[in-house]
Amino acid sequence: MAYRLTVIGTGYLGATHAACMADLGFDVLGLDVDETRIARLAAGHLPFYEPGLEPVLRRGLDSGRLRFTSSYAEAAEFGDVHFLCVGTPQKAGEYAADMSYVHAAARSLAPLLNRPCLIVGKSTVPVGAAEGLADMFARTAPAGGDAVLAWNPEFLREGFAVQDTLRPDRIVAGLPAEQGAAEHAEKVLREVYRTMIADDIPFVTTDYATAELVKVAANAFLATKISFINAMAEVCEAAHADVTKLAEALSHDGRIGGRFLGPGLGFGGGCLPKDIRAFMARAGELGADQALTFLREVDEINIRRRIRTVDLARELLGGSFSGRTVGVLGAAFKPDSDDVRDSPALDVAASIRAQGAKVTVYDPKAMRNARRAQPNLEYGESALSAARDAHVVLLLTEWQEFRDMDPSALAKTVAERNIVDGRHALDPDRWRAAGWNYRALGRP
Ligand code: UDX
Repeated sequence: MAYRLTVIGTGYLGATHAACMADLGFDVLGLDVDETRIARLAAGHLPFYEPGLEPVLRRGLDSGRLRFTSSYAEAAEFGDVHFLCVGTPQKAGEYAADMSYVHAAARSLAPLLNRPCLIVGKSTVPVGAAEGLADMFARTAPAGGDAVLAWNPEFLREGFAVQDTLRPDRIVAGLPAEQGAAEHAEKVLREVYRTMIADDIPFVTTDYATAELVKVAANAFLATKISFINAMAEVCEAAHADVTKLAEALSHDGRIGGRFLGPGLGFGGGCLPKDIRAFMARAGELGADQALTFLREVDEINIRRRIRTVDLARELLGGSFSGRTVGVLGAAFKPDSDDVRDSPALDVAASIRAQGAKVTVYDPKAMRNARRAQPNLEYGESALSAARDAHVVLLLTEWQEFRDMDPSALAKTVAERNIVDGRHALDPDRWRAAGWNYRALGRP
């Protein structure tokens, strides 16, 4: 049977999922309560930058397989499978995840479900949430026990969203405890993801709680790996060793591997920081907080990178930013994204400005979001203009454009040739040969 899919929430995850599922041949209806967003998506415009996604979106719209709505009634009528893709940001002033969007979406949908359907949760939620949602659907959907819930976490990375959605490392299906419902849910999910399963992508079935945990455990592991190498960078600094060489040598050990072992300014974005904090908060509620106290250290090591980067730049200027000019290259939390949520780059830029410098930022894609988040910083039109008259330049997001920069060309625009490479993205020999005072954390 060709299932009809709805995707509820058209943020990063939902917009990508909707477009990719339509590309696989499904009829898809994307839903969002934000009418402006819906209108833009329906016209083929993404509300964020993501390489390769806009053509997929447009293909879906042109084929007629992909449509958008703001009506839950239309979605309930249309869909055999409803993907819940709304956000779960960090609660203001707390570590816990804000579940209000998930609850609002589920409560809007449930009373309208009057025929058998599968609801598939993809949002990152505190463990235990799916169980509660399943009860709520069973109690309030007119279809009752025929409105079945599955939990299917999503692992996509910004910048690789299309490839991660169409060729994920694994598909995790958290199934209900009741055997009949579980068999039905598994059958539907295997059908929805059949092309991926045919490509030998592992399909792992679990209970709800394990599926919810896979997502946060994966992000906790990745964050730990990054903070581990950044902790080694601190030791390297003290011991006059080179963390980039250390990471390279470690990476040849197949048990360790080189991915997510990149030292530098550390992790940011809409997922890793808030997910490890929500994980700690949830473990506390469950009485298992001791198991995750190490994540507090992971978080602190990560925040220390930002402070140390500011300190390094200040040292280069003789101990004070006051009256100095600083050029910052990068605002997004990572390259190939325009996302500035919890961005280490913007955090460092704002902190330097707060200490009295004139700070000019340039990012290839994130300028609009950066201006909105940090309106008090100055913004340049290019790397060269951000660096004009600078006493120190900081590279904080490793866009290819910055990696490819000509150190001699940049030298002509600055006041002093000081560069802080916050992402180990530049070749120190090349920059030093062009007369720069090159500095990076964790390197002699
Ligand atoms: C992450 C997870 O990778 C993804 O599986 C999950 O679904 C969402 O969260 P994302 O936030 O898009 O994805 O970015 P990711 O590529 O994981 O990078 C996160 C941060 O870690 C970035 O700020 C990046 O600069 C930093 N990072 C990454 C490092 O500092 N060093 C590394 O070696 C790798």
